[in-house]
Amino acid sequence: MGNYNFDLEINRYNTNSLKYDIKRGRPDNILPFWVADYDFKCPDFLIGKLIEKSKHGIFGYSEPLDSYFVSLKNWYKRRYDIDIDTSKIKLTNGVVFSICQLIKSVTNELDSIIINEPVYYPFKSSIIANNRKAISSDLIKINDKYYFDYNDFEKKIIDNNVKAYILCNPHNPVGRAWTEDELIKIFDICNKHNVFIISDEIHADFVYENNKFNSAHKFLKKNFAICSALTKTFNIPGLQIAHTYISDDLIYKRFEKELDKVGYSQLSIFGLVASEELFNNGDEYLEELKKYLWNNILFVKEYIETKFKKLKLIIPDATYLLWLDFSNYGYTDKELKDIITYKCNLWLDDGLIFGKSGSKHQRINIACPRKKLKEALDNLYNVFELAL
Ligand SMILES: Cc1ncc(COP(=O)(O)O)c(C=O)c1O
Repeated sequence: MGNYNFDLEINRYNTNSLKYDIKRGRPDNILPFWVADYDFKCPDFLIGKLIEKSKHGIFGYSEPLDSYFVSLKNWYKRRYDIDIDTSKIKLTNGVVFSICQLIKSVTNELDSIIINEPVYYPFKSSIIANNRKAISSDLIKINDKYYFDYNDFEKKIIDNNVKAYILCNPHNPVGRAWTEDELIKIFDICNKHNVFIISDEIHADFVYENNKFNSAHKFLKKNFAICSALTKTFNIPGLQIAHTYISDDLIYKRFEKELDKVGYSQLSIFGLVASEELFNNGDEYLEELKKYLWNNILFVKEYIETKFKKLKLIIPDATYLLWLDFSNYGYTDKELKDIITYKCNLWLDDGLIFGKSGSKHQRINIACPRKKLKEALDNLYNVFELAL
């Protein structure tokens, strides 16, 4: 037994929860396994820290102190043996927000930006919202594992005069933690064609077993930015804090200018306090959480292998988001989504939102107490294996 109880079920209804309280036209009693937001209680020491801050009773404009950056630097050194020059880091309220500001800092309107679908859908929507062109070099699936298609990637960069690349590492939704070899190859192509690299590393802390997280820091000196945060790691996205590392001074200045243009300045005090506390003291919770999550993944694997004839699970290297392949069932995407929503009574993320290559797939968030996860699997089993 560890120090944290991840089996504990906590009612999240009527708590201003995006995951639980918003339905977007779905049935009221639908069970949510969508959005990357987990259902575990955060550690007591964090709650204590936030209460202490609340009791101070003053919530004025906030700035990170030097200690914040020391804590961040130590976290990366301790956990990943990376030496971060914290003078190149800018804090913002979120990774997607930073990606949008980076897009404007390194490209012009109508420029092309490359991504690897199926991928976290705000990449594409951020590119399009900023009036740039989104080009996908789709990942290729070989024996239920996803890989880059280097030839296609380079050809699309050349054909579309691509200016920037948004990498997802580890990759949401297909769960790859890209290897050194893979990253070296993909970065070489970017460098050869002067493509600015934006590496989204928000899922870095969820890499399992023998897989390894390889930060872009290890391979690049210039022409890149890394967007990350502790908000996935400890499920504090409601506290709104992220860090962006920008390799080049000029781009850093342009990024600051973009922040000025949208009127962004100070951070949420609770985000700052929480994040610093977790950089300093979050390791033990994270290690226990990762074990629980990996056991959830093994639980899903075993359940699917023993009970389903046609459903396939893509075993992830990383993340708590599992990619399920329903293509053997022969349903259209619309039929699949309707069955899952109305017959299974589950809200999973529909594969198509991650790009056309997400067709016939669904993403399920397994970061919840195992009992609840079993309920989702039972609902799928009862419909796909017994009823249809
Ligand atoms: C790859 C990736 N990037 C960014 C985010 C969101 O980050 P933020 O809430 O800081 O914008 C998510 C959330 O699921 C994600 O999966």
